[in-house]
Amino acid sequence: MSAIIAYIGHQEAYPILMTGLKRLEFRGYDSTGIAIKDDKLKILKTKGKISELEAMAQGEDLKGHIGIGHIRWATHGEPNTENAHPHLSHSKNIALIHNGIIENYASLRAELQSRGYTFRSDTDTEVLVNLIEDIQKNEFVDLFDAVRIALNQVVGAYAIVVMSEEDPDCLIAARKGGSLLIGVANGEYFIASDPTSIIGYTKNVVYLDDEEVACIRLNHDLILRTIRNQEKTPYMETLEANLSVLEKGGYEHFMLKEIFEQPNSIHDSMRGRLHPELGVVSLGGILQYEQKILNASRIIMMGCGTSWHACLVGEYLFEDIARIPVEVEYASEFRYRNPIITENDVIIAISQSGETADTLAAMELAKKKGATILGICNVVGSSIARMSHAGSYTHAGPEIGIASTKAFTAQVVILILMALRMAQLKGTLTKMRLMEIITELSIIPDKVEKTLQKSEQTITIATEFKDSRNFLYLGRGYNFPVALEGALKLKEISYIHAEGYPAAEIKHGPIALIDKDMPVVILATNKGTYEKILSNIQEVKARKGRIIAIVNEGDTEVYKLADYVIEVPDTEEVLSPLLTTIPLQLLAYHIAVLRGCNVDQPRNLSKSVTVE
Ligand code: G6P
Repeated sequence: MSAIIAYIGHQEAYPILMTGLKRLEFRGYDSTGIAIKDDKLKILKTKGKISELEAMAQGEDLKGHIGIGHIRWATHGEPNTENAHPHLSHSKNIALIHNGIIENYASLRAELQSRGYTFRSDTDTEVLVNLIEDIQKNEFVDLFDAVRIALNQVVGAYAIVVMSEEDPDCLIAARKGGSLLIGVANGEYFIASDPTSIIGYTKNVVYLDDEEVACIRLNHDLILRTIRNQEKTPYMETLEANLSVLEKGGYEHFMLKEIFEQPNSIHDSMRGRLHPELGVVSLGGILQYEQKILNASRIIMMGCGTSWHACLVGEYLFEDIARIPVEVEYASEFRYRNPIITENDVIIAISQSGETADTLAAMELAKKKGATILGICNVVGSSIARMSHAGSYTHAGPEIGIASTKAFTAQVVILILMALRMAQLKGTLTKMRLMEIITELSIIPDKVEKTLQKSEQTITIATEFKDSRNFLYLGRGYNFPVALEGALKLKEISYIHAEGYPAAEIKHGPIALIDKDMPVVILATNKGTYEKILSNIQEVKARKGRIIAIVNEGDTEVYKLADYVIEVPDTEEVLSPLLTTIPLQLLAYHIAVLRGCNVDQPRNLSKSVTVE
C-alpha cells in the first residue's frame, strides 16, 4: 500500500529519493519521509504530501550518497508525523521503511516493552526496527543477519529497507508478500517497491522473491539469502519502460490520458495474439496450460475492484463462447471461506498492479490445494505474475490514475482472446463465426477511437447531473458488469453514491429509489435482449427517472424515451463491453472535474492495495 525507494551509490541520494516518491504520489498517500546518511543519519518526515516534505527540506543539509524514502497509506496508526516512515530504533542507530502489515506486532511489542523498549509511534513498523536492534545487540550479529533473524519471528507481509548508523555503506532489503526490486547500475543500486520509481536510472533489475533478504553494499556485488540463511543467486531481468509513460502528454489528468490511450492499449494487448488473416488466436503465455483449461472441472476467476468486474465479463465470455463453466469470486471472500478446491480447478487471477494482497493470498491458498493458477496482470514481474503457473500480460502500459480505465479494457481483451482460443480448440464456434468475431476484434481500436469522440457530449450530460446525490447504472448480459464498473468509476472519483444493477432486478428494490431527481444510466446496446431493455427503460420513465442511455448507432426506439443518448458504434455483442465502458469512464471523469475533485488521486483510495 505504501511505497518504498532507496538509493546507494555515487550520486546524491536526496533528488533520487524525491523523484522516485513523486512518481508514485498520484496513487494516493497520506504521509511521507526520508532518511539520508552522510556523517550521521538525518531523518525528515511529515504528514501530507511530498511538497510539504520538500518545504521542510529547504535549508537542511541533506547531503549523502545513501538514503531511504517512503510514502505511507495508513494502516496501523493515523496519518501523522510520528507514524510516518522511516522509523528509528530505540538507540536511533537503525532506520527502517516498510510496506505491508506485521500481524503479530502486538505480541512482539509487548515483549520488547518488557525489555525496556519504548515506542514513539502506533505503528507495527517501529516494532520491527526495534526487534532488529534487539537481536543485533543480544546476538552480536551484523545488520544482515539481524534483519534475517528478526523476519523469522514476523507473521505478515513486508517489503522493507533498513539502514544503520553503524554500517554506513550498506542497505538491507527484504520482502514477503509486498513487491521489491533492486535496480543495478555501475556500482550503484536503486531499490523500489514499484518499477516506476527507477525508470530512467537503470534497466537491470533483480526482483526479490518471498522471504529473500538482500545485502546491498556500495561497490560490492549484491548478496541474496533467504530468511533461513540459504544462499540465492540474483537473477537479473530487464525493465521494459521509458520515461514518457510517466508524463501527462498534454492531458489535464492521467485518467483522461489513459482513457484516450485505449485504442492503443487495446491494440497492444492483442498484438501478436490475434491473427485475423488466419482466423486464429494464440496466447503464448498459456500454451502449455491449454489442455488443463479445457479439462478443468471449473474455472474460478478472482480479483478485486475493477479487476473483479473484468472477471464477471470473463464469466459471460467463457460460458457463452467456449462453453466452459466459470465461477467469479471476490478474492477477499474466497480466501476466508474454506473454499472447495481440487487439482482439476483452474484459477484465473486478474490484477492490474499484480500486488493486491487479497488476490495474492487467495491464489496462494488455491495453489496449496493443487489448483492451476493463471494470471492476467498489467505489471510485468509483479508478485501475482510471479506466483502464477502461467498467464498473459495485458500490455496496457503503466496506469497512473487511481481509477482503473485502460487496464480494465485490456483485461477484457485478454479474456476475449482466451475465450476465443478455447472456442477454437473445443470447436464451440464454427470457423466462420470465429472468423467474424476475430475480424471485428481486429478493428475494435478504431471503434474505441470513434467512441472517444463522445467526450464533448458527456460534458453536457455531466454539467446537467454533476450535483446529483445518487446515480443508478443498469445493464443486462455483457452490459451488467459494465454497469457495475460505470458506477464504481463515478463513486471513486466524484464521491457521488452510485449503484450498478442488472436491469431486470430493479423491480426487486432499486425502483423504489427512482423519482425525478434520480439519473439512471442504462446500457441499451444488447441485441438479444433489446426488447427487455426497452421495457426496463419504460419502467424507469414511468417513475420520472432521468434516463441517460448508451445505444448503438442508428437506434431509434430508445431515442424516444431517453433524456440523453450517447451512441457507440455497432459491434459483436461479445465485444460490446470494450465500447460501452468508454462513455461511462468519460461521464465519471467529467462529473468529477466539474465537482472540483482530485481525479487522479481520489480521497482514501490507493492504486495498489497491498494490505488486506
Ligand atoms: C484498488 C484500485 C482499483 C483496483 C483494485 C484492484 O482498489 O484503486 O482501481 O481495481 O485495487 O487492483 P488490481 O491492481 O488487483 O487490479
